[in-house]
Amino acid sequence: MDQAQKLRDIVKDVREEAVNSTYTKDSHVITVSSGKGGVGKTNFTVNLGIALSKQGKRVTIIDADLGLANVDVILGIIPKYTLSHIVKNEKSIEEIMIEGPYGLKVISGGSGMLDLVNLREDQIESLIHSFDKLNEISDYILIDTGAGLSKSVLSFIKAASDVVVVITPDPTSITDAYALIKNISEEEKHINLVINRVESSKEGAEVFGKLERAAKKFLEIKLNNLGYVYEDNNVKKSVRSQRPFCLEYPNSIATKGIELIAYNLVNKENKAASVNKFSLFINKLFR
Ligand SMILES: Nc1ncnc2c1ncn2[C@@H]1O[C@H](COP(=O)(O)OP(=O)(O)OP(=O)(O)O)[C@@H](O)[C@H]1O
Ligand SMILES: [Mg+2]
Repeated sequence: MDQAQKLRDIVKDVREEAVNSTYTKDSHVITVSSGKGGVGKTNFTVNLGIALSKQGKRVTIIDADLGLANVDVILGIIPKYTLSHIVKNEKSIEEIMIEGPYGLKVISGGSGMLDLVNLREDQIESLIHSFDKLNEISDYILIDTGAGLSKSVLSFIKAASDVVVVITPDPTSITDAYALIKNISEEEKHINLVINRVESSKEGAEVFGKLERAAKKFLEIKLNNLGYVYEDNNVKKSVRSQRPFCLEYPNSIATKGIELIAYNLVNKENKAASVNKFSLFINKLFR
């Protein structure tokens, strides 16, 4: 039996076991990425997580950025353990999870993200078991990745059924986003765009239109416009105070943008529920 077949069997066994036990519904797995760094991914992920939690959704954020642990900083929390402890079988998924506002759960990837590529079979099995627990407790799993075309970022995007690419009106952000979209466009998935730091919705629509036309013409794919977040000084202030702007400035224009995006996502879920599945994510991640 080849390695790939063994992995498929593990995934199948673990999944059947889980189906027979508690959960019946899969989580939606959404990767948040960007072509260029510093465009607002982490702020978007954390505040979207809070907005969805406020709407009664159960949300888990995985900080999969190998660089600085951004999610923790923005939420003002300090994780003791990371996914590495799961991979090494030292901690359970419950033990590495931190609870944030409105019951939002946060998992720090740490160097565990790097380890993912070279796991032994028994480690993969324990990781899948852990992820199944996540599936039970989450309606949405949001994965904040680093920017760009690194192997680990791409494998996450390719495994998740939904990806949100965050861009800003800055021309280099747009060209880098196009490179990322081109790279992932062969996989069948929803590619959603969020345009951050816009001065007006007209500007947002123009930026979206540029990428939409290029993607249609050269890649023959359709992009989904999830919404815009305005340039807002409250975002910077909230980063400084380590309190997410959705909580600190609930009436700010940035918060309104995030809330509309959360609404769009939940609505979209009703229309296209069959495709965003957790089991698909796990299967693809270890393929
Ligand atoms: N809507 C906004 N209005 C004003 N400033 C913003 C907005 N969004 C992000 N910023 C600024 O951009 C900075 C970077 O944001 P963030 O850390 O979320 O980006 P990132 O894409 O996660 O970065 P990295 O690629 O390094 O992980 C924030 O600290 C903030 O100062
Ligand atoms: Mg970040």
